[in-house]
Amino acid sequence: TFVVTENCIRCKYTDCVEVCPVDCFYEGENMLVINPDECIDCGVCEPECPAEAILADTDPEAQKWLDLNTRYAALWPVITEKIDALPDAEEWNGVGGKLEHLSE
Ligand code: SF4
Ligand code: F3S
Repeated sequence: TFVVTENCIRCKYTDCVEVCPVDCFYEGENMLVINPDECIDCGVCEPECPAEAILADTDPEAQKWLDLNTRYAALWPVITEKIDALPDAEEWNGVGGKLEHLSE
């Protein structure tokens, strides 16, 4: 599976949702997650993210995000169409320590 990681927070560009063949992205206030049970591992979303926030779960960095993706995919609504990025996405792209800003 692929997972969404920290740099999505406060950016939420949503380019990823347009390409997913199985519509397995779920939308929180300031982050998206992937439902790992629905993801078919096609990999097409990964290069679409301007924040480079999508990683394969084989990436050591992705491990700690797998639980978070699973948890919020069960709580948040599905998103299948691109929407505007968050207004200050450019300012937040690449900023460290964004997990504390996650809106649940
Ligand atoms: Fe969707 Fe493919 Fe990305 Fe999985 S890897 S979330 S199936 S686009
Ligand atoms: Fe987030 Fe990147 Fe998608 S910033 S919303 S994972 S395009």
